[in-house]
Amino acid sequence: MKKITIFDTTLRDGEQSPGASLNINEKIEIGRQLAVLGVDVIEAGFPIASRGDFDAVKAVAKGVKGPVICGLARALNKDIDAAYNSVKYARRPRIHVFLATSKIHMKYKLKKAEDEILRLAVAAVKYARRKCKDVEFSPEDASRTDKDFLYRVVEAVIAAGASTVNIPDTVGYAMPSEYGLLIKGIKENVPNIDRAVISVHCHNDLGLGVANSLSAVLNGARQVECTINGLGERAGNASLEEIVMAIRTRTDTFNGFSTGVKTRELYKTSKLVSKLTGMPVQRNKAIVGANAFAHESGIHQDGVLKERVTYEIMRPEDVGFGSTKMVLGKHSGRHAFRDHLKRIGFGLSDEQVDKAFRRFKDLADKKKEIFDEDLETIVEEEITKVPEKYHLQHFYISSGDEVSPAAHIKLRYKNKVMDATSSGDGPIDACYKAIDKITGTSGRLLDYEVRSVTSGKDALGEVSIKIGSGSGVVSGRGSSTDIIEASIKAYINVVNKLAYKKK
Ligand code: KIV
Ligand code: ZN
Repeated sequence: MKKITIFDTTLRDGEQSPGASLNINEKIEIGRQLAVLGVDVIEAGFPIASRGDFDAVKAVAKGVKGPVICGLARALNKDIDAAYNSVKYARRPRIHVFLATSKIHMKYKLKKAEDEILRLAVAAVKYARRKCKDVEFSPEDASRTDKDFLYRVVEAVIAAGASTVNIPDTVGYAMPSEYGLLIKGIKENVPNIDRAVISVHCHNDLGLGVANSLSAVLNGARQVECTINGLGERAGNASLEEIVMAIRTRTDTFNGFSTGVKTRELYKTSKLVSKLTGMPVQRNKAIVGANAFAHESGIHQDGVLKERVTYEIMRPEDVGFGSTKMVLGKHSGRHAFRDHLKRIGFGLSDEQVDKAFRRFKDLADKKKEIFDEDLETIVEEEITKVPEKYHLQHFYISSGDEVSPAAHIKLRYKNKVMDATSSGDGPIDACYKAIDKITGTSGRLLDYEVRSVTSGKDALGEVSIKIGSGSGVVSGRGSSTDIIEASIKAYINVVNKLAYKKK
């Protein structure tokens, strides 16, 4: 097998995403999860950048076991010292030195000529090698560097002791075929290239980070630098999960290639990184987005229900996703609808399915996503037709910061009016307790949600609740411009369902 080294730079380049900074504990937590995921190298930060970054890299080096721990440094002795002094606590430390080699960077940023750059690169690698036996060198902006100069730099840093040479597409400018040829050119034109691993580091400015990395692998690269969720400077870096799953899924193209990543940890790792960096993952993100294994259209749902491989090239379980998700919406078909109803406990006849399906389509035209509670309501209203035994006649509540909440409720039941008073932890609790007294119900409130159905101060509020009782979980809904009234109606809805079930 040709093993691809997965070099994760979520904690360094990923953390350079505007708005995504991490504290020490968060870096350790992510670092530990990356170790569980099975990455080979963790670039934990840029230690010279700040005291905080130095301490974080040191903490990761001390606290994360398994992968090589790497710190970034410019080609300056003080940077290399800081990098080494933070990573030296790891069992396998690495120093990653970089220096720009493209004409644009040398002229405008560094204001140095080629020979000077070559000299500085070699000196930095030699200095780093005196401290650490694992040294990586990156000619920054390599994809825009003059090829002959790039070959000279790569040869010289390998001779100076670099065991990994990373070829960054720093500004995400390369095209996949061109970048593949660049790697091939390095293999063919650098005489001592067999003494080092070729690495790639692709940014995503044109959305080609993953494609470029994969093209490089096919042309001789054996280390890929990437990040969870594709985080990184500007448009980000190549996404780790996409690279790993492309290699694993397209075994025809990547025949004999493998990574050490435990793919079942991908989803969990993505969630953790998203939570701690505060960078949400777009729903349609490949591999780890919420929609990556969700199907809405009737044709797709029907295909997947008949045979998964019709519309899925990976199994959701393989990336740590629960299972394929059938989203019920206006594009869904009868097959998925019936299947879904069965899964939530309603085995209906063909005629009943037809009736409920018509009502479902009407609702789906008005609402983007249909939830299980919506389906329950449809079935209850269309098929089982729960009778309204109890009606709200009147309610009165008293509440405030210096009085304990109390409620007086009147319900109509078979032409009789029954009432009760109760106190509670809040006005809604007091109302629910008063209703319990009248109806003899005893349920536990498991979920309470209020949302406005219309806008403005006089908006109609809809309350959805879930009540746990002896006969399982029952959901209820009520709406009103007054949310206390909507809450009472939602509970009466539950009480009516329970009474019907009992009967
Ligand atoms: O994008 C880049 O060139 C980098 C280097 C430091 C490797 O992040
Ligand atoms: Zn980068």
